[in-house]
Amino acid sequence: MKARAKIIGTGGYLPDTIRTNDEISEMVDTSDNWIYERTGIKSRRIASAEESAASMAEIAAKEAIEVAGIDAGEIDLIVVATGTPDRVYPSTACMLQHRLDIRDCVSFDVQAACSGSVFALSIADQYIRTGAADKVLVVGAEICSRIVDWSDRSTCILFGDGAGAVILEATEEPGILSTHIHSDGGYEELLYCPNPQVAKESVKDQPGFIQMRGNEVFKMAVNTLGRIVDETLAANGLEKTDVDWLVPHQANTRIIAATAKKLRLSMDQVIMTLENQGNTSSASVLLALNEGIRDGRIQRGQIILLEAFGAGFTWGSALIKY
Ligand code: ACO
Repeated sequence: MKARAKIIGTGGYLPDTIRTNDEISEMVDTSDNWIYERTGIKSRRIASAEESAASMAEIAAKEAIEVAGIDAGEIDLIVVATGTPDRVYPSTACMLQHRLDIRDCVSFDVQAACSGSVFALSIADQYIRTGAADKVLVVGAEICSRIVDWSDRSTCILFGDGAGAVILEATEEPGILSTHIHSDGGYEELLYCPNPQVAKESVKDQPGFIQMRGNEVFKMAVNTLGRIVDETLAANGLEKTDVDWLVPHQANTRIIAATAKKLRLSMDQVIMTLENQGNTSSASVLLALNEGIRDGRIQRGQIILLEAFGAGFTWGSALIKY
């Protein structure tokens, strides 16, 4: 029988420092009311100067390994989704491998902005299905606060820091039922983060901060996530009523509510972390998954739909029988 990927452990990490909307209102011309009404966010976590994507990934990964009850040395593949790696190279995944004291396993990063962890899950699923890996560690880790312009009210209200992790193991029963990932590089100007050191001339002089045309991104996200719901259910011959939980990328409550409505799910069937975490980019789906599993809402045998949309544009889903 074909190998399928089962979740055997999850973990998460959030930095200690909480930055509230009121604190941001002292930095830029905004208000708690405006931010909460437009986004659903009240506060976000901000990493300390000593922390990095790799250090947060390590804590989340160690928790997932402990919950899975495996030895780190059993891991065959580490995929880290991040848009805020500590270094251009080596990859954050290689740095994490070293921190976990694993001597020899395949380790690499995936860069798909906010869709990163769904892309990473899809890659992990392919490795397990083909028999190339037996145990896989997938991590989403982001230190968004370092690439946010804290004087730009249109972006600084949105993002936060953190890391989520999951261990997948090959079993005979699914597990991950299917993953669906997409990219369309035609929308670079709507959402990007320059890398001034290596940028082409036109963006060389820009600081390395997130640039976003939020309203246009918003509309694209709602439409695209609606389509991915249809694609995912059709591929599995399932109805909307078969889905027990939506575990969405946490960008904006209104985007998430539109996807829930499309699925005819009540917001009680959506794992929400946005209010006190903000948008942690590629970490958000795995942080929400960890929260839903660890607090007992998501139960074995239930069907969960993970989805994300981000810069690229990139978007994707994973349908999982937990
Ligand atoms: N406080 C007060 N007013 C503000 C703020 C703020 N923080 N930010 C913008 N405004 C103002 C604008 O200047 C504008 O004023 P004007 O009408 O006088 O011009 C007005 O509010 C409306 O601005 P919009 O940008 O149209 O506001 P919108 O309702 O679209 O909300 C938001 C903005 C929250 C950013 C929303 O567009 C959004 O969430 N977009 C999607 C973000 C997203 O999903 N990104 C993808 C993932 S991120 C990744 O991949 C890295």
